[in-house]
Amino acid sequence: MLMLQWVLMGACALALSNGSSADYLDPYLLQTKSLPSDLNFMPSLSNGHLGYTVFGDAIFMNGIYNGASGRSKRARIPNWLNISAEICDKFGCLTDDDVAGSEVSYEMDLRNGYFRYRKEYTKLGLTLEQRSYPHRYYNRALVYELEAKRSARLSGTAERINFPLFLRLRQQPGNNSDAFDFEEVNRKSRSGEDYRTLRGRTKILEFEPFQPEPHEIFVVFSESLEQDRQLEWPTWQASLQHRIIISIDRKEDVARKELQDLLQIEQHEMLRRHTQVWNEFWDNEFSIDIEGDPELSRIVNAGIFYLSSSLPSLTSNQANEPYYGLSPTGLARGNLEADYQGHNFWDTEIWMWPVAAQFHFDYGKILLDYRLRHLEAAKYNANVTGYEGARYPWESAYTGTEVTNPCCPDIAQQEIHISPDILFTLQKYFAQSNDIDWVCEKAWPIALEVAQFLVSRASCEESEDICHLRNVMGPDEDHADVDDNVYTNVVSKIALEFAEWAGGKCGNASSAEQTYLSWRALHDRLLILHDEELNYHPQHQGYKINATVKQADTILLGYPLQFDTSDSHLNDLHYYAKVTRESGPAMTWSMFAANYLGTGEPERAHEYFERGYKSYVRPEFKVWSENPIGYDGSANFLTGIGGFLQALIFGYGGLDFARVGDKSHMISRPALLPPNVERVTIKYIKFASSKCIFQFQNASSSFYCPELGGKRFELSQGNRKSQLNGSFNVTIKKGEPLLRISTL
Ligand SMILES: *[C@@H]1O[C@H](CO)[C@@H](O)[C@H](O)[C@H]1NC(C)=O
Ligand SMILES: *[C@@H]1O[C@H](CO)[C@@H](O)[C@H](O)[C@H]1NC(C)=O
Ligand SMILES: *[C@@H]1O[C@H](CO)[C@@H](O)[C@H](O)[C@H]1NC(C)=O
Ligand SMILES: *[C@@H]1O[C@H](CO)[C@@H](O)[C@H](O)[C@H]1NC(C)=O
Ligand SMILES: *[C@@H]1O[C@H](CO)[C@@H](O)[C@H](O)[C@H]1NC(C)=O
Ligand SMILES: *[C@@H]1O[C@H](CO)[C@@H](O)[C@H](O)[C@H]1NC(C)=O
Ligand SMILES: *[C@@H]1O[C@H](CO)[C@@H](O)[C@H](O)[C@H]1NC(C)=O
Ligand SMILES: *[C@@H]1O[C@H](CO)[C@@H](O)[C@H](O)[C@H]1NC(C)=O
Repeated sequence: MLMLQWVLMGACALALSNGSSADYLDPYLLQTKSLPSDLNFMPSLSNGHLGYTVFGDAIFMNGIYNGASGRSKRARIPNWLNISAEICDKFGCLTDDDVAGSEVSYEMDLRNGYFRYRKEYTKLGLTLEQRSYPHRYYNRALVYELEAKRSARLSGTAERINFPLFLRLRQQPGNNSDAFDFEEVNRKSRSGEDYRTLRGRTKILEFEPFQPEPHEIFVVFSESLEQDRQLEWPTWQASLQHRIIISIDRKEDVARKELQDLLQIEQHEMLRRHTQVWNEFWDNEFSIDIEGDPELSRIVNAGIFYLSSSLPSLTSNQANEPYYGLSPTGLARGNLEADYQGHNFWDTEIWMWPVAAQFHFDYGKILLDYRLRHLEAAKYNANVTGYEGARYPWESAYTGTEVTNPCCPDIAQQEIHISPDILFTLQKYFAQSNDIDWVCEKAWPIALEVAQFLVSRASCEESEDICHLRNVMGPDEDHADVDDNVYTNVVSKIALEFAEWAGGKCGNASSAEQTYLSWRALHDRLLILHDEELNYHPQHQGYKINATVKQADTILLGYPLQFDTSDSHLNDLHYYAKVTRESGPAMTWSMFAANYLGTGEPERAHEYFERGYKSYVRPEFKVWSENPIGYDGSANFLTGIGGFLQALIFGYGGLDFARVGDKSHMISRPALLPPNVERVTIKYIKFASSKCIFQFQNASSSFYCPELGGKRFELSQGNRKSQLNGSFNVTIKKGEPLLRISTL
């Protein structure tokens, strides 16, 4: 306890200046004076290599899992970055209670990519600022830094506080790790500080045939904080700065080099190189500017931040390792069941990918590359379950073999739609990039094997010329073991058609003709349920009218599948809206919104759009929960963010991409604005070699696409057709027909 009582005497008249003059909300700054009651909803920060949740007990590393099969989960590294500082004198340390009039503020700075926590001891003229971040360029490194200042005004009145002061640093990493055995392999003294290296080995293999050795990591500390540390703060020094760096990699020399490189630059330069990468992302790659609704704007920015920070840095000091996927709660989480153990699901391709690919095409590729690198495991999975080709597991982690939680074997057995979902997204990447070389090199090997799997999985009735996918579970997990789930069958049809096309472009032998014919035959005969009388799609065989469903399933036939946008799709929307569970996950409502926007009843979208985020986002740091507030659910739910941003960009924005023959099409219908919003500007939408500014307002939307890579395009709208030379600026107005820009 610091002896300060007398300092505070007479300080009772505390002038609170609440909500004063400038009510301008910086759309990139999330600021709060009180923390969320559940600390799972603190910001999750990551750089694609390492991640952690602020004040949490874990650091996680890309691709590092521990546990056998369904028990494999992200291997928890104690959160050695959870360091805090206190200002002390010889009588003790300042606590918030000690000093009335102290101000504390917690900030997530989205634009600069760090978390900051500031205490201002107004009466003492002292401030303490602490910051932490995973470095976006030196991405093996996690950084904690502090800056303590005293105001000039008070530094001359030393007798009022018991100088000299010092700062006490304390590390609270949480319990020992249950995933690693750690061993100290190096300890050095460098100018009084000790710098040490730990080697950690995971305890349990995921699946030996695909992971012969445990994971090994090296953790290098710029200083050890095994005991509390005191930093002297001499009286003559107005401010005190300090940093602690923790560098982690599979290779000791990589971890060590990262630390050494950072120690060679000044603290402010280290921060500058971090914020520079984030600033470049927002300025040159992706941002959504929303005019008219500052709160929505901050939720959108936070969503983009939490999603993109889980993805790898595209420029880094040392080469990145392969990326092991975007799990529903990101890289900064993965220890809890509620974090889906850090596994990859269809969430990646169907919910997050469409947005991530617009952040940067490289992200589109990196995410799909994870699937290609695990093709052998998917083939293994098909074989052991009795099928041909490649069957992607419902959940996968390091090895790419099935790791679905032992609780729920039927999900792994039945939710086969994940394999065609992946093909749907491979096709989407071509629809956006027009990159045929990539298709042949990366997509075709996957498409070939998945198509074979579908053929072997289907059961056909020769007599009736009909094929079924039996004993499946669709996205609606409340209905297990059904036949012909309509979503599963439609996405499989799309997958087969893509495989056939890719085979024609990339396959090599005419002997493959027979194979392609078998794909075509299944494509043509796969049953798509439709009730003629009620003119809607029953979700599966024997679906009973009014039976409750868990989440968006059949309605996905419109957006994103673009398979049926007729009246019966509108009837599906009317019908399934009535029978979907209240507690459904966030993206359910976003999908109702995105789908209504494509119909003749677009106004119905607004209510769903708001429902899809308002009750899912925690107020302080705009962190998402999987379930509405009041229900338990995962924190930092990136899947929900993906659905929400899709509803905004593709639903309200009216944008889509399609492959038509060998061409890529960017398709735009007249946009609509969410309630209260005056204008939306997205910088940049990527299409083929162009990077477009896409802007929509009440009555029109426009694409300004400067020429970049020398592709030519064709514009068509109604009867109008014209050629666009590389660079173009086109506008579509309310009431006009679809606008298509296609590659030539
Ligand atoms: C991390 O540090 C904060 C204080 O800085 C503390 O409240 C929290 O309990 C710590 N977390 C763990 C896991 O110990
Ligand atoms: C930490 O370990 C203690 C003792 O084993 C246990 O009671 C506690 O639940 C653990 N805390 C967490 C967050 O796992
Ligand atoms: C699984 O692989 C084995 C060994 O290659 C093979 O003999 C068997 O036919 C395969 N099973 C199926 C269903 O393809
Ligand atoms: C033809 O494609 C198959 C796989 O589809 C591959 O194994 C084979 O090496 C290819 N042959 C040539 C000549 O490229
Ligand atoms: C389904 O529910 C609606 C309204 O709740 C009701 O009007 C209708 O009769 C029900 N249909 C069937 C077949 O039960
Ligand atoms: C949008 O434009 C329509 C006319 O196309 C107009 O009636 C309406 O008031 C406008 N809404 C806003 C919010 O500006
Ligand atoms: C491209 O089109 C624009 C406007 O239509 C025109 O001003 C420009 O000269 C054209 N550039 C080329 C290289 O044809
Ligand atoms: C693109 O066209 C729109 C509408 O004609 C115009 O308002 C806008 O300024 C143009 N943008 C550029 C960058 O030329």
